[in-house]
Amino acid sequence: MADSLNCDLKSLSPLQLFERVTEQGEKVRALKAGKAPKDEIDAAVRMLLSLKLSYKTTTGQDYQAGLPPKDLVLINNGTTKEEDEDLVDPWNVQTSNAKGVDYDKLIVRFGSSKIDTDLINRIERATGQKPHHFLRRGIFFSHRDMDQILDAYENKKSFYLYTGRGPSSQAMHVGHLIPFMFTKWLQEVFDVPLVIQLTDDEKYLWKDMTVEKAYEYAKENAKDIIACGFDINKTFIFSDLDYLGTSPGFYKNIVKVQKHVTFNQVKGIFGFTDSDCIGKISFPAIQAAPSFSSSFPQIFNGKESIQCLIPCAIDQDPYFRMTRDVAPRIGQPKPALLHSVFFPALQGAQTKMSASDPNSSIFLTDTPKQIKTKINKHAFSGGRDTIEEHRKYGGNCDVDVSFMYLTFFLEDDDRLEQLKQAYTSGELLTGELKKVLIETMQPLIAAHQERRKQVTDEVVKQFMTPRKLAFEF
Ligand code: TRP
Repeated sequence: MADSLNCDLKSLSPLQLFERVTEQGEKVRALKAGKAPKDEIDAAVRMLLSLKLSYKTTTGQDYQAGLPPKDLVLINNGTTKEEDEDLVDPWNVQTSNAKGVDYDKLIVRFGSSKIDTDLINRIERATGQKPHHFLRRGIFFSHRDMDQILDAYENKKSFYLYTGRGPSSQAMHVGHLIPFMFTKWLQEVFDVPLVIQLTDDEKYLWKDMTVEKAYEYAKENAKDIIACGFDINKTFIFSDLDYLGTSPGFYKNIVKVQKHVTFNQVKGIFGFTDSDCIGKISFPAIQAAPSFSSSFPQIFNGKESIQCLIPCAIDQDPYFRMTRDVAPRIGQPKPALLHSVFFPALQGAQTKMSASDPNSSIFLTDTPKQIKTKINKHAFSGGRDTIEEHRKYGGNCDVDVSFMYLTFFLEDDDRLEQLKQAYTSGELLTGELKKVLIETMQPLIAAHQERRKQVTDEVVKQFMTPRKLAFEF
């Protein structure tokens, strides 16, 4: 019996094993509470011990009630977080380090892989294009299964891109553009379809907002996304509130995911509690579903097995760890991922920005003057207190927010390197560095505003209409 149990257990994913241990634990408790015969309790306990052992062999971790396997655990509210660890989840980003989150540690903790030079070179070979500066500078720094996407691509097998945005307000800031700028580049160099999910349902569930308002924000945000330059023939943007009710393919995938994830699991991954509304508890299935091509039969001609690649900020990873765990059990390929670092607030890299604080970042609606004032007034400086000291000891680029912003937006590698050296040596003062940033951001934002103006309601409607794209499947 032990053998057949072991063999049975080997085929289980860590999350399923976790689930089996939890169930068995509950069974033992029930038997004890119901004063069941001793041998029945003993048998159940033996089973529990053997399940715990398999759990340990498979995951390398001891079973702990309420805490799913570590690479699936979302570090939530300190419950599983060690003292000096950074807090990173879809709702919080917090670190005590002025340089920002320790991303190498995060890779280890999340169980993803580093985007190293080899991978970047491979992307260059596969696409024949110079890698985007977000790759060259470690802004997209972590991945899951990108090598598989490249294997397939080199064998002329296509894939598609999926990314998204939660339209929490009308105001988008430059940080929100990072995944979209990168996704646009990926779409261009790989020439593949792209789907963009606007989770207006998520924002309705999480925020104090009506469904109408959430949908309105989705359409407004779509304009900023479109203004990044996506190809209308290759891109489908959808609002959950709108598209879900019209797409049986999408809904089928949602229920399949829902059937394979338990309440215990989402509690462990997302930190939901018994008093969260059931909408939140089932929402992860809605963010998972676009990872499967059968959610878009109009684009993929009903095909089920097209691989998906998801560029996103690393805080979205918990959704996709869950998705990847479920995928093989519902007969679908696991989505691959490319993770970005967080975009720092003007005040410093300790926290992610908030759309509700106008001074925490540069917004896409800011005027040249606002950009200048914000940077001069609020961008945290790694410079010294006095000019004399600065000249003598130099500035610290690792904590200087103006320099960090330049690594995101100044494309010229040589110029960036010159600035870094000049600032570090003390030759360049904080005010001068800020001036470079102001002069970089002003035209960039103005150009964005110009492109956004061209995006009419009619254009939004076209992007958001379910339709075939310019690809044959
Ligand atoms: N939950 C994300 C947010 O709040 C939006 C989102 C949905 C997303 N699907 C995605 C982000 C896929 C990245 C990739 O912003």
